[in-house]
Amino acid sequence: TEGGADAAKRRAGERAAEEVEGGFVVGLGTGSTTAHAIEAIGRAVDDGLDVRGIPTSFQSRQLALEAGIPLTTLDAVEGIDLSIDGADQVVDDADAAAFGTLIKGGGAAHAREKFVDAAADRFVVVADPSKLAARLERPVPVEVLPDAHTVVADRVGDLGGEPTLRSAEGKDGPVVTDNGNLVLDCEFGPIDDPETLAARLSRVPGIVEHGIFVDLADTTYVGTDDGVEERQY
Ligand code: A5P
Repeated sequence: TEGGADAAKRRAGERAAEEVEGGFVVGLGTGSTTAHAIEAIGRAVDDGLDVRGIPTSFQSRQLALEAGIPLTTLDAVEGIDLSIDGADQVVDDADAAAFGTLIKGGGAAHAREKFVDAAADRFVVVADPSKLAARLERPVPVEVLPDAHTVVADRVGDLGGEPTLRSAEGKDGPVVTDNGNLVLDCEFGPIDDPETLAARLSRVPGIVEHGIFVDLADTTYVGTDDGVEERQY
């Protein structure tokens, strides 16, 4: 039988997929939760739904092709109606300024995810309860140009972070992103002001993109043991 966490992820993914309407251009996020949404959209396509997907990674492109979802590119469409994407951490304190702020990039896909999710009229996050937190405290994934990794690591240190070059499984050496870059996982401890940290990271030369998503999510669907909870931002 399906494990509890995966069942919760499936509920969230399938709930988000219900929001896809005929004629939509849909951003297809990365990770195991979004994978359930992609499969559900594929079943709707089998039943005749007319949609086009814009994948955010090699992984989501493969899943979409397997699911039979027609694909397109940002430069070939007028916009994205809906983007569905996972997250590594979601601020779930409704009283906090950072309510709905995300950390992404656990799968090293956050650069593409960020511009696709940001281009969407509506960005829906799919998560299980393990992703919810009062404040962000996971290491922040930072995609860097390969030649810049040491100077970026120094600047991350200046900003109070401890960077670690992400290493690859099954390879001697670092993770190389879909864009040919490297990833520094930057430990800042609990992040009280993610908006300020995001702005500071964005100003560092050599950083392609960081995994803090400020003011981008519109809704989170949280799959639980017996249903789906909804957050609106
Ligand atoms: C990819 O780089 C991440 O931003 C993913 O969206 C994130 O890791 C979510 O993955 P899961 O749904 O598998 O937790």
